[in-house]
Amino acid sequence: MGELRQKTVDILRKVLPEALPTPVIDLGGGARHGWLEGVLARQDIGSWDAVAGPGVDRVVDGCHMPEIADGQVGTLISNYTLEHVAQPFNFATEVARVVFRHGVLFVSTVLAHPLHGPGEDNWRFSVMGLQHLFGRDFSEIASGIIPCAGGIIGTYFCGKRHKGTNTDFSITALISRAKCTRMQYSRLQALHALASQWRRIDGAFVECGCWRGGSAAVIADAIGVGGREVFLLDSFQGMPEPEEVDGLKAREKWDAAGSRWCACEPENVYRTFEIARLPRPTIIEGWFDETVPKLLTGPIAVLHLDGDFYESTRVCFTHLYPKLVKGGLLILDDYGHWPGARKATDEYLGMSKEKLQHLDYESVYLVKEADG
Ligand SMILES: C[S@@+](CC[C@H](N)C(=O)[O-])C[C@H]1O[C@@H](n2cnc3c(N)ncnc32)[C@H](O)[C@@H]1O
Repeated sequence: MGELRQKTVDILRKVLPEALPTPVIDLGGGARHGWLEGVLARQDIGSWDAVAGPGVDRVVDGCHMPEIADGQVGTLISNYTLEHVAQPFNFATEVARVVFRHGVLFVSTVLAHPLHGPGEDNWRFSVMGLQHLFGRDFSEIASGIIPCAGGIIGTYFCGKRHKGTNTDFSITALISRAKCTRMQYSRLQALHALASQWRRIDGAFVECGCWRGGSAAVIADAIGVGGREVFLLDSFQGMPEPEEVDGLKAREKWDAAGSRWCACEPENVYRTFEIARLPRPTIIEGWFDETVPKLLTGPIAVLHLDGDFYESTRVCFTHLYPKLVKGGLLILDDYGHWPGARKATDEYLGMSKEKLQHLDYESVYLVKEADG
C-alpha cells in the first residue's frame, strides 16, 4: 500500500481546496491517521474533541457516524475505508447527512488488490461507482484512478456538498469551531446580532486586539465589508506586560505565559477571513502606542476594543474614539472582566459611561450620540 498511499497524498494535496471548511474529520483513519500529516498541516483549525493529528480535528470509525449530528462536518476525508464497509449506500447516505452544505468530501478506495477477492460488487469502488454513490449530494471537484505496481488500483472522488442540511453553517459556528477566537459561542452570536444593525452605517471597521481574527470576522460579516475599510491591529507578539491597574489575575497570567499569551501570526487572521469567505482585511502589526496614533482611517462606523489592559485601551480611546461617527458602535469586549480596560473606559467616557449597555455579563457597547 506504500505506493498507493504516497500517490493518494499527492492527489489530496492537489484536489483539496486551500482553505478547508472546518471541522476536518479523518473517517476511519484509526491509528494510521498520521499519514495525512503534511497534507493537512497547512490548515490551522485547532481541535474538536480529541486532537487527532496535525490538521485533523477528530478521527472516528465508520461505526461512530451515527454519533455525529446532521450538518456538523466541514471536511470529511475517508481513505481506504469504504471497501471495508458492508453497505456502501448507507455509508454514502451518512456522509451526506453529516457534511454541511458547501462542505468537502474526499473518499478513496481500493478497486483491485491481489489480496482482495474478486468481489461481485467491486464496481461500487470504481470511479463510476463512487460517482454514483456520492454524486447525488456532492458536486464533483475531481475523481480518478490511482494505478500502482502489482496490479493495485485505487480510486478516489472529491466533491463539494451542494445541497442538504445547513444547520450549523452560520458564521458564528464556523468561527467558533475553527478556534480562531477566545470568545464563547454565545458572545459571538450576540456580537453578530448587534453588529448587523450597523450594516447601513458608512465608515471603517477597526478592531484593536484581533488575535487570530475570530471576533473581527464575525463583526465584518455582520456589518458587511463591501466598500468598507477593515483595519485589524495587534502586536502579534502576545499581550504586553500588565501594570498594577490591570489586576493580580493579569499579573499571574502574564507571569505564567509571558509574551506567549495571545501570540500568533497575521497569517492566522488571513486564514480566519478565508474560512469566513471574507475579503482580506488590512492588518496593522505592532504595539498600539506606535500604531494607533498613526492609523490612517477615515470615519469609523464600528470600533471594537479588545486589548484587555489599561494602557492598551486608553491609547485606543484617545486616538480612535474621536473618529467614531455619530451613531457609530463602540464595543468593549472585556469591560466586566479586566479592571484595566474598565478603568480606561470609565476615565475616558466620564459621564457617558452611563450609556454603556451590556451585550452579556462582561462585554458592553455604546452608540455614540455626538460627533467628536
Ligand atoms: C483577548 S485578545 C483578542 C481576542 C480576539 N479579539 C478574539 O477574537 O478572540 C487581546 C489581543 O490584544 C493584543 N494587544 C493587547 N494589548 C496590545 C497592545 N498594547 N498593542 C498591540 N496589541 C495588543 C494582544 O496581542 C492580543 O492578541
